[in-house]
Amino acid sequence: MTAPLAPAVRNQPPPCIAEPVIEVSDLTKRYGRNIIHENLNFDVRRGEIVSIVGGSGSGKTTLVRQILGLESPTSGTIKVFGEDISKIDPEEAHVMRSRSGMLFQQGALFSSLTVFDNIAQPIRELGKVPAGLLRDIVMLKLEMVGLPCKHASKMPAALSGGMVKRAGIARALALEPELLFLDEPTAGLDPRASDEFVELIATLHRALGLTVVMVTHDLDTMVALSSRVAVIADRKVLVAAPVEEAANVDHPFIKEYFLGLRGRRALQALPPERRAKLPPAALEPASAEVPL
Ligand SMILES: Nc1ncnc2c1ncn2[C@@H]1O[C@H](COP(=O)(O)OP(=O)(O)OP(=O)(O)O)[C@@H](O)[C@H]1O
Ligand SMILES: [Mg+2]
Repeated sequence: MTAPLAPAVRNQPPPCIAEPVIEVSDLTKRYGRNIIHENLNFDVRRGEIVSIVGGSGSGKTTLVRQILGLESPTSGTIKVFGEDISKIDPEEAHVMRSRSGMLFQQGALFSSLTVFDNIAQPIRELGKVPAGLLRDIVMLKLEMVGLPCKHASKMPAALSGGMVKRAGIARALALEPELLFLDEPTAGLDPRASDEFVELIATLHRALGLTVVMVTHDLDTMVALSSRVAVIADRKVLVAAPVEEAANVDHPFIKEYFLGLRGRRALQALPPERRAKLPPAALEPASAEVPL
């Protein structure tokens, strides 16, 4: 399944990396006595695809939820599009939210609504939109994500995992956001559906000039898409750099993640000029375990 946009943008350059659109400074987040983030710093520039990686429970989803304003930091500041999100009034916050689309880790779609109504829901929330226009917008979004229109009337349970993710992306793109957040977009997909998903995100990134922030455990997706990877460990972003630079950082989580068997295998997909910058341990054959 290929989005019709793909051939049109294949030879188009990716969007230019421009001004910061997310600036997280000195962020601390606690739940009771549980400290999730401590003096964490993290920036994303317009046009980037930044992957956030880290162990389970390291606070990846919590970081994204704070950037979206769904959770409040304990201390520190978060600026989105240059605005401190703790200082904006509800109306500005509403506009800000419409400039971001989100595919959540759990429940990409409302199970009780058809695919059409799922995608239409953020548009309907804006106010009254004529039925014909709404239909056109929803069908355009479906086409954008490579989902045939015949699926519009189906319930999510009748779709494959890959189709549900596509419909979730169509929903996230309903209000034409500049920033797209994806939390574990390929979790539960088979390798082919994951590859198709990578192509879809790469296509949308180019076609729409999107900035993408993606949380992922999936090394292949991370290597294929990221302009930078932000590694969360020890309650901080340890490094936020192109994958070949991040793999050079001397830290137990980074060694285990990038230089283990699966990491080395995934890093083989990098082009030779980027592979040349990897630490020697990343170039060991990916067929055998090596001591780290
Ligand atoms: N609303 C909440 N109340 C209390 N603790 C929470 C809440 N949300 C998250 N946590 C805790 O914060 C920590 C980080 O959770 P988070 O969901 O951000 O991790 P994650 O890195 O996204 O993990 P995963 O890879 O499993 O999705 C966990 O210990 C979790 O139990
Ligand atoms: Mg999570």
